[in-house]
Amino acid sequence: MDNGVAIELRGLTKTFPRGVCALDGVDLDIPRGSLLGLLGPNGSGKSTTVKILCGLIRTFQGEARIEGTRLPDRRCARLLGYMPQQTALYAELSVLENLDFYASINGVRLAAERNRRIDEMLGLLDLSGKKREVVETLSGGMRQRVSLAAALLHRPPILLLDEPTVGLDPELRLEFWAYFKRLAAAGSTIVICTHAFDEVKHCNHLAFLKTGRLVAFGSTEALRAGAGSDDWEAVYLAHVARAGTGGAV
Ligand SMILES: Nc1ncnc2c1ncn2[C@@H]1O[C@H](COP(=O)(O)OP(=O)(O)OP(=O)(O)O)[C@@H](O)[C@H]1O
Ligand SMILES: [Mg+2]
Repeated sequence: MDNGVAIELRGLTKTFPRGVCALDGVDLDIPRGSLLGLLGPNGSGKSTTVKILCGLIRTFQGEARIEGTRLPDRRCARLLGYMPQQTALYAELSVLENLDFYASINGVRLAAERNRRIDEMLGLLDLSGKKREVVETLSGGMRQRVSLAAALLHRPPILLLDEPTVGLDPELRLEFWAYFKRLAAAGSTIVICTHAFDEVKHCNHLAFLKTGRLVAFGSTEALRAGAGSDDWEAVYLAHVARAGTGGAV
C-alpha cells in the first residue's frame, strides 16, 4: 500500500568501529515531495544518515527503507541521486567526460540521450561554456555545479544532497534553492544536509539532529510556530532544549 512515504527510518543507529555513536535510534518518515532540511551542528550525524540511504554505509542497526525497500539493497541506487559533501569528480577528466560517466553508470544507456541531458543540465547550471574544461581547472563553485549535475542527470525521484550550497556565492545559492524547490514541486523528494540556519526557510520540512539523535521533525512552519521565533538558531535551540527535558516537540 502506498503510504506517501519515500524514506522511512526506524531506530536507525550507527556506531563506528572506535565506538563513536553517529546515529542513535532515529525514527523518521519523509513524505514524498518533501524538500527536507536535515539540520544539525558538525558531527551530528547528517552525512552518516545520507551515506546509509545511498548505500555507502551498509552496516548499521535499525531499519532504513526507500520506497518500501529495506536497505542495503542495490535496487535502490537508480531511485537516488547523491551529491557528496566532498565533490566526487575525476579531476583529470573534462566536465563532459565526468557527466557522461555518471549518467552512464546510473543507467542512461543511450549516448544520444546522455548528450541531450548533459547539454540541458549544463545550460540550466550555466556551465555550457565549460563542457570541455578539465575539472581540476574549475573554481570550487563550478565544481559544485558539476557535482549537482552528476547527481541529477538520471532524473532520480529522490535526491540526497550533502551541504550542496557551501562555498557558493549568494546569487548561485538562491539559484540552487530555486531549482530544488522546482524539483520538489514537481514531485521529487529532496533531503538536504545543512548547518546553515539561514537556508532553513527554503525547506518545507525540517529534521533537527543533535549528537546522533533526532530532536524534532515537522513542517518548517510547525517547527517555527512551535518555538515561537523567527530566528532559526533560536528555533533549533528551543527544540533541542525541549527534547532534552523530555517535553513534546
Ligand atoms: N568513517 C568514520 N569512522 C569513524 N567515525 C566517523 C566516521 N564517519 C563519521 N564519523 C563520526 O560520526 C559522527 C557523525 O559524523 P557525520 O559526518 O555524520 O556528521 P555531520 O553531521 O555530517 O557533520 P558535518 O556538519 O561536519 O558534516 C562524528 O562524530 C564523526 O566523527
Ligand atoms: Mg557532513
